[in-house]
Amino acid sequence: MKSNWIVAGILMAGAAIAAGSVMAQSDPIAQRKAIMKAMGDAGRAPAAMLKGEPFALAPVQAALQAMQAAGKQGPALFPDTSKTGDTAALPKIWETRNDFNAKFAKLEKDATEAMSTIKDEASFKAVYPALLRDCGACHSDYRARR
Ligand code: HEC
Repeated sequence: MKSNWIVAGILMAGAAIAAGSVMAQSDPIAQRKAIMKAMGDAGRAPAAMLKGEPFALAPVQAALQAMQAAGKQGPALFPDTSKTGDTAALPKIWETRNDFNAKFAKLEKDATEAMSTIKDEASFKAVYPALLRDCGACHSDYRARR
């Protein structure tokens, strides 16, 4: 069970990185959704650990890697040409663009720092919730509620 989480976490982070590098810029909406989805999937095991599943470091590191990659690639995946279509991205993204990009930069910075500060269960529980707040802080302003 525990090793399954670890393998899943590593696969998910790999998928996030692959999604970013392989998929063409020609469909930024599909590309950003794939990266977000991979990040959400990689975050599932750590989220369960916050709720009492046994702690393991590898899935946390995999989730942090996915966040780092998404933070880095994010701004480029919201070009002006991608405002409409099958997307939950709100128009506000393009109105307050600097703030939107800064939220991706914060996610990347926080994930990078967490890679060295999270070493065990106690540091995981102290640091990881702030990363989840980075997701929520952007979604609440820039993503349409489903
Ligand atoms: C800087 C802004 C920003 C940050 C930070 C951010 N997201 Fe998102 N996220 C978005 C936007 C915008 C969408 C809607 C994209 C679309 O539909 O085109 C989205 C969509 C998603 C989706 C749905 C993807 C789909 O299949 O439609 C998931 C899952 C997701 N985000 C997870 C996360 C997680 C987990 C984090 C934090 C680790 C996070 N996001 C951080 C902006 C952000």
